[in-house]
Parts: sequence; structure tokens; C-alpha cells
Amino acid sequence: MSETTFAKGLEGVIADESKVCYIDGDKGLLSYRGYEISDLAKNSNFGETAWLLLFGRLPKQSELDEFNKRLVAGRKLPAPIVDALKALPKDTHPMVALQTGVAIHGGINPVDGGPGEENVNRAVEMIAIFPSIVAAWARIREGKDVVEARDDLGHGQNFLYMLNNEVPDEEVGHIFDVCLILHMEHSFNASTFAGRVVASTLAPLDAALAAAVGALYGPLHGGANEGVLDMLEDVPSAEEAPAWLDAALERKERIMGMGHRVYRAKDPRSIVLEDYLKRLSEKQGDSFNYDRLKAIEKRMAEVMEAKGKPIYPNVDFFSGSLYRLLGIDVAEFTSIFAIARVVGWVSHIVEQWEDNRIFRPKALYNGNHELSWKPMDERS
Ligand code: CMC
Repeated sequence: MSETTFAKGLEGVIADESKVCYIDGDKGLLSYRGYEISDLAKNSNFGETAWLLLFGRLPKQSELDEFNKRLVAGRKLPAPIVDALKALPKDTHPMVALQTGVAIHGGINPVDGGPGEENVNRAVEMIAIFPSIVAAWARIREGKDVVEARDDLGHGQNFLYMLNNEVPDEEVGHIFDVCLILHMEHSFNASTFAGRVVASTLAPLDAALAAAVGALYGPLHGGANEGVLDMLEDVPSAEEAPAWLDAALERKERIMGMGHRVYRAKDPRSIVLEDYLKRLSEKQGDSFNYDRLKAIEKRMAEVMEAKGKPIYPNVDFFSGSLYRLLGIDVAEFTSIFAIARVVGWVSHIVEQWEDNRIFRPKALYNGNHELSWKPMDERS
């Protein structure tokens, strides 16, 4: 490969082959293993979509039952993780706590990285344990007791139960499962790529996941849904949103929840999330966020289309406001993204190990050459 193929941020670079997920950014199309995301969001459930991503096809009933049993069995948090979480300062960010829990998990029954059934089993264990770590930290940092997982609740419903010590009603559980399905997978995004890079060294699965969690933490990736709610704090009303947006763009600010490296159309996930936000806002009689978001979206489209750089909502634009209506604290948003995305991460890592080659790109060196070392008193 010649240096002329340099692409900042690896934009447009094909780093490996993958069968997990397909995105057509121009058409606004996203599919998992060939199934369109809107079809899965409408008809599938957490366990089935997770199985599909991990194993490459829709499960038979017996396979799904067995998988769901393993997800339930893996919910219980090992004591060393609970102890470590309790030792963290209470203002530790949930993503740091999650990364800590995942790293500690790597020390419990360690499994070497690489292909094979042992790591597929480990992958299922990790999907099961992520919600328990996130819920435990959410409670510990508020000085509350950790709520033990229940084995009679669905994946999303159990998470909300562990978070609030209250079983959510079925509609809330269903909407939350749909949110998890929408966030499960998105090809070679920064966190998935980070996970695959670490896995390509044959480091253990847990180490690769800890790296992926770290990458998702950033405000340009998983942190953007928190950013959208922060941003809304500055938007007094839907009527004032256009003027607010013009001023923000004038200050060259990035509008959180807008734009995407891949999509040049509205993110298909945001279409489903917008629909649920609208319905739930109407049901709860609270459309304040929905109305302001729609006003921002409309003005952004007008301004950016006029500039010839159309920018549309991404998955984060509506999700935070929906989580709020589901009774979830803003501090948990990014870690909730992680409990969904762990499914995509492990699917990619398993795929990586089936045909592994360590990632080792080159840098286009633009520093100095042929300097001579100087003693301290001759340095300027
Ligand atoms: N607000 C204002 N202008 C924007 C935005 C935005 N959110 N996004 C892109 N632009 C402008 C950007 O300033 C640039 O203009 P110019 O050519 O005049 O410099 C042009 O659009 C092209 O942008 P870019 O920086 O080349 O786009 P990118 O592909 O590097 O960035 C992005 C993608 C997601 C980092 C960016 O759109 C962004 O910062 N968005 C806000 C943060 C956000 O919502 N992140 C969540 C991403 S989706 C979830 C995920 O995958 O994790």
C-alpha cells in the first residue's frame, strides 16, 4: 500500500472483511446479518437478535431457549467485581466503573484469546454480565444496595429492575429491548474497531471488551446522547430552537446527535427511536424534548442543505430523551449503549479470531529527520 492512500481517521479505508453488519450510508440502510434493522426492531427480541449477531442466523426455538437460559445464568455478579465497585470514588463515571468491572472479570477464570468454543461461551457470559455491572454501579454510587438479578425477567426488564429495584411495566420493558436491539451493532465504529484491534493481538476477550468500553466513552461516539440532553438545557423552547441553532453554528459548535461518519441520510435507528419518543411523549403528556428536537432537526436540515453539506440526526439524537421518559438517569446513558453494543463487540471479536491477522497500519511520518543530539546547555 502506498502512502498516497493515507486517509485521516481511516475514512473510507476497508480494514477487514465482515459478515456481521451492512450499512449503506447513502440510502440510510442498516442490516444485521442480512436482516434490516427496522424488521428486527419490529419483530425480534433481545435474545434472538443477540443470537443472530453472534452465530450468523436466526435461532431455532430450542437454540434460543438454551441461549436465554445462559444469559440468565450469567447475570449474577462475582463478589470481586462488587467489592471493586464499592471501592471506587462515588463520582467515578459509569463507563470507568464498567471498564473496571470488565477488566476485573478478566481475572476471574481467565480464558486466553483466540478461536474456539470457550471464547464463544465467554462472549455469552459477557453479554449477560454487562447489565449487572452497570446497574450495580448506578446503585452503589448513589449509596444504595445492589439489587440481585432475577431469573424470571427478560434481559432489558431485568436490567431496569436491577437499576430501580422495581419491575417495569411490559411496555417499558419492550421499548427498552427495542432500544438495545437498535444499539447492538454498527460495523467498524470506533469501539468495535478498538475491540477487534486488541483481539487481533490474541489478548483475552475481556481485555478487548475493556478497550471497546474505553472507546465508547468518548463524546464523539457513545457519549453523544448525554451531550444531546446537555445541549437541550440551552434551548428554551421549540420556537426559539432555530435562533439557538443558528447561533451555535455561528460559534462553530458541533450539534450533538447530528451527523455521522457513514450516513448521508437520516440514521435508520433514529427513525425508530423518534417514533417511540413521539408515542411515549404523547402518552406521558410531556413533549417538551420531542418538540425542541424536531425544531432543531428541521432548522439543521435547512441550514446544512443550503450549504451543500446535509447533516441529519444520528442514533443519539432521540435516544436520550426516550431514556429519560423510561425513567433512566442521564448519567447511565453511555453505559446503556455499552450493554447493547457488547453484543456487536463480541460478534466481531469471534469473527476476528476465525481468520485473525494482527492490525498494524502505517503512519505517514511528517516529523523531523537527521537531527543530532545536543547537550542541555546548547538547547534552545
Ligand atoms: N454539528 C455541526 N456541524 C457538523 C456536525 C455537527 N454535529 N457534524 C458534522 N458537521 C460539519 C463539520 O463541521 C464539517 O464541516 P466543514 O467541512 O465546514 O468543516 C462537515 O459537517 C463534515 O463533518 P466531518 O467532521 O467531516 O464529519 P465526520 O465524519 O468527521 O464526523 C461525527 C462525524 C459523528 C464525529 C460528527 O458528525 C459529530 O461530531 N457529531 C456530533 C457528535 C455525535 O453526535 N456523535 C455520535 C455519532 S453516532 C453514534 C456513534 O456511532 O457512536
